Amino acid sequence: MAVCQNTETLRTQVARWRESGDSIAFVPTMGNLHAGHLSLVEIAKQNAERVIVSIYVNPLQFAPDEDFSSYPRTLEDDLKKLDALETDLIFLPDDTMIYPQGEQHSTFVEVPGLSHIIEGECRPGFFRGVATVVLKLFNLVEPDMAVFGEKDFQQLLIIRRLVEDLCLPIKIMSGATLREGDGLAMSSRNIYLDTQERGKSRFLSAALIEFQHQIKRGVDIEKAQTSCVDVLKKQGFLVDYVTLRETSELALVSEDGISANKSLIILAAVKLGKTRLIDNLKFTI
Ligand code: PAJ
Repeated sequence: MAVCQNTETLRTQVARWRESGDSIAFVPTMGNLHAGHLSLVEIAKQNAERVIVSIYVNPLQFAPDEDFSSYPRTLEDDLKKLDALETDLIFLPDDTMIYPQGEQHSTFVEVPGLSHIIEGECRPGFFRGVATVVLKLFNLVEPDMAVFGEKDFQQLLIIRRLVEDLCLPIKIMSGATLREGDGLAMSSRNIYLDTQERGKSRFLSAALIEFQHQIKRGVDIEKAQTSCVDVLKKQGFLVDYVTLRETSELALVSEDGISANKSLIILAAVKLGKTRLIDNLKFTI
């Protein structure tokens, strides 16, 4: 497994692989890797001859009051996990490579519309930071394909739109959300939960499942949503949003918009103490 910290070496290696006809799949991450990340690496391996994983905690996608400085950085452990999967190359860019003028003065890219709703409404600038870093990483790595998790469903849609709008020759693939035994979606931020919060955190996915059941039973959307929010609040969650959307554009769903075979998704973000958790549940009626 090669570990690469500069553009030159990265480009030389990628060019060599390409010359010998190998296809390249890319998995961008911020590290502190868990089984969810590793499942994306497996998808990459199944679809390409060569797999590149990047680890970079992107300052541009953190607001000043967010957890950039405390975000878990566990490089040694991450490298061991990636080595065990026989990942071909780990790309570790630094801030000067990604933001030569400093991140506040960087050229940016922003996907309109989708970036400003739901998660983008709670975290202004977040998706601009994500889209910008992902485009830079795509330009550095030049992969044939890239894999993203459905755990961050809005992010996945935004990346797909970015690729389509900017005519990037990169196939975007996705992997299902991996969960702990009790249903909690795996996330690098779960380590912020104390024991009591970790116990309670399982109610998030359970609440989304119940919301889904109610919609399938024909309960009024607003009623189902309110009861989901109420249950979460009673458990001590601070609810940023719980919302039922259609899956292609994340448009709001109205009562008469629910029809057979319609693909829907419940998106949620909550805080439990100082930890912010997001989750989603996709289903068809
Ligand atoms: P990070 O949170 O490290 O996630 C990297 C990738 O892993 C993303 O595509 C994310 O959706 C996926 N992922 C996270 N938890 C998962 C789970 N439980 N199951 C399956 N996949 C999961 O997302 C980012 O980093 C950043 O925004 C990034 C795209 C790297 C840009 O900085």
